[in-house]
Amino acid sequence: MIMDRQEEIRSSYKIVVTSGPTREFIDSIRFLSNPSTGRMGYYVARAGVNTGYKVTYIHGPVPVKYSEVPGAENISVISTDDMLQSVLEKVTDNTVLIMAAAPADYKPEKKFENKLKKTENPDIRLIHNPDILLSVQQHIKDKKLQNVVLIGFAAELQNPYEYALSKLERKNLDMILLNDLGKPECGFGTETNELTVIRKNKTHTKWSMDSKERLGYKIIQEVEEWLA
Ligand code: CTP
Repeated sequence: MIMDRQEEIRSSYKIVVTSGPTREFIDSIRFLSNPSTGRMGYYVARAGVNTGYKVTYIHGPVPVKYSEVPGAENISVISTDDMLQSVLEKVTDNTVLIMAAAPADYKPEKKFENKLKKTENPDIRLIHNPDILLSVQQHIKDKKLQNVVLIGFAAELQNPYEYALSKLERKNLDMILLNDLGKPECGFGTETNELTVIRKNKTHTKWSMDSKERLGYKIIQEVEEWLA
């Protein structure tokens, strides 16, 4: 990449990274969630800062060590609705959005006010949460935003490539990072991942198993090549 173009990309684009799970409360203390730790998103955000980008790191409830990226704007959220609101505020012209979070897809239709007692027999009905990436697509249209790059993750167990490709198309992404959960040492809470990047032009590259820290830099490098 010509040096001038790289410098131009780094000074004109900002990066928004989401990470971790979200929580959907059933009553005042119980919630629905998933085992995401936020580690992958944390390392992507850190690589972004260390490469020279302005980074906003929006995370759900993650362990303390993945809650603050030095040099980034750090925003803590709880529910998928909260995450959506922060993302919509932060995605403006010239933004790369990297959705490494695992937002809960469902929430209880209503939250019980106090702590439910065992003797009660709650009827918990789940409703769909908004899809953040699809909502961002609408936001781009409504606000006529320019130069927004959307990157998703797909964690899949069965037919991983086919499912990831269908998500890339359905969510109209520039790139999706496929995480094959069927492989050992890959996925929620692991130190390493084996990712395949699938681009909008249908080309794909399978990266060898690597630490999430090094993969963070690979993802930022891939974004820069995509923008160049
Ligand atoms: N995602 C999102 N909003 C949601 C759920 C997921 O923006 N409510 C994003 C994730 O951050 C990820 C991508 O969409 O980048 C794919 O997430 P995944 O959970 O694999 O896909 P879903 O669309 O939720 O499909 P399914 O759970 O049915 O596989």
